[in-house]
Amino acid sequence: MNENTSDTWSLSSWKNFTALQQPNWPDETAVDIALAELKQLPPLVFAGEIRALKALLGKAVTGEAFLLQGGDCSENFAKVSAPKIREALKVLLQMAITLTYAGGVPVIKVGRIAGQFAKPRSADTETVGDLVLPSYRGDMVNDAAPTGAARTPDPQRMVKGYHMAAATLNLLRAFTRGGFAALHRVQAWNQEFVSQSPMGMTYERMAKQIDEAIRFMETIGISMDTPQINQAQFFTSHEALLLGYEEALTRVDSTTGDWYDCSAHLLWIGERTRQVDGAHVEFLRGVLNPLGVKVGPGHDIDDLRRLIDVLNPANEPGRLTLITRLGVSQIDDVLPPLIRAMKQDGRAIVWSCDPMHANTITTGGGHKTRKFNDILTELRSFFEIHWAEGTIPGGVHFELTGDNVTECTGGARDIGDDDLIINYETSCDPRLNAEQSLELAFQLAEMIRT
Ligand code: PEP
Ligand code: CO
Repeated sequence: MNENTSDTWSLSSWKNFTALQQPNWPDETAVDIALAELKQLPPLVFAGEIRALKALLGKAVTGEAFLLQGGDCSENFAKVSAPKIREALKVLLQMAITLTYAGGVPVIKVGRIAGQFAKPRSADTETVGDLVLPSYRGDMVNDAAPTGAARTPDPQRMVKGYHMAAATLNLLRAFTRGGFAALHRVQAWNQEFVSQSPMGMTYERMAKQIDEAIRFMETIGISMDTPQINQAQFFTSHEALLLGYEEALTRVDSTTGDWYDCSAHLLWIGERTRQVDGAHVEFLRGVLNPLGVKVGPGHDIDDLRRLIDVLNPANEPGRLTLITRLGVSQIDDVLPPLIRAMKQDGRAIVWSCDPMHANTITTGGGHKTRKFNDILTELRSFFEIHWAEGTIPGGVHFELTGDNVTECTGGARDIGDDDLIINYETSCDPRLNAEQSLELAFQLAEMIRT
C-alpha cells in the first residue's frame, strides 16, 4: 500500500505501484538502454526556472496573474520545424498580450510544447480494417501509421523525443529572449492568414495602441532596455505519462538538494492516471515542480481531497493547478460542489479551465471535432461559477496551433462539419486554429476584465 510519506519516496518508488497507460515495450533491455542514455543527458530546464513558474502560479491562486496554457494535443517529430514552432509561439504571444492589455492581468505563458509526445488512449489496441494494432501512444512511443511495424513501441523514440524537445526549447529560448517577443513586435505576431480577418483587424488595432503607448514612454525618456519590454517569460509543460522518461530527466538541484523533473517546467497528471494509489501520483509527489491535475466530470470529491493531500501536503500556493475539463453540459452541476469543498478545506488552488477535453464529438464523416461555441460556453460557465462562489478563475488550458487548420468547427469563419476535410492535420485531438484562438482570447479578456 502506498503510505505516501516522504521518507518512502525515491526516484524509482513509483515502480512499486500500478502505472496505467504505459506502452507494452517488446524488449525491456532496450528500454533500460534508452533510459540509461537519457540519464546521462543534460536537463532540459533548470530548477530556478521551475521555481520562478511556481511563484508566478502562486499569484494565479489569488488573481494577481492568469495562467495561459496551450499547444498541440500531441506534438509530432515530423513537425518539429522552425516555422511550426514560431507560429505556435506567435499565437500564444498574441493571446497573452490580448489578455494582458485588454484583460488587464499579467499572463503566465505555458506551452504544451517541447515534450508533449506521449498520449493516454482509451484502448490498448485499435482495429484498422482486418488488423488489430497497438494503439498509437504518441511519437515518443510509436508511429501513427497503421501497420504492425510502425505501431510497435520503440524505446529509442524516447531518446529522439528528448532531442526533439531540446531543439524546440532551444528555438523557443532564442525567440523569447532574442527580440522576437519584444513588445515592439506585437504587430508582427499577427499571422498572415489572420490579419485580414475581423479578428486580425481587432488585434491590429490593439497592437497599434500598444505601439503608441511604448512610443510615448520612449519619448518621455523611460528606458525600453528592460526584459519586461524586450523578452517574454515562456514555460514548457506536458503530461507526465511515461514514468521511465520522467524519472530519467529528474535531477537533484545542487543549490537546494531537492528533486526536480527537468523534462519541463510544469507537468500534469491526466484524467486517466490520477489514481491516489497509482504510480503517476507516487512519482510526481516527490518532485518539486508545479503540477497540474486534470479533473473530469466523473470525479469523486473525497478522492480528490486525498489526492491533493498527497500532492500538496503543505498547501503551497502554485504547487497545484486543478485543470477542470467537465464539459459544457455538466460544468454547471459538477463544478460548484467541487469548488465549495476545496474552499471549505482552505486549499490553495490555481483553478484552470480546459474547455476542450469533455467537448469532443465525432462527426458523421468520422472526424473528431469540437464546437467553438461549446468551448466558449464552458469557459463562460467556468468564470460565472467562480464569481458566484467567490473563488478565482485562474487560468485556461487549450489545444491549439498557430496553423490554419480546420479541426474545430465554428468561430468567426464558421467552419462547418463539411469543412473539416480541408486541413485536418492533428494526430490526436482537434485543435483551435490561430484565428479561433485569438477570438477566444478577446472573449476571455472581457471576462477577466469584468
Ligand atoms: C490531453 O490533455 O490531451 C488529455 C489527454 O487530457 P485528459 O487527461 O484531460 O483527458
Ligand atoms: Co488532447
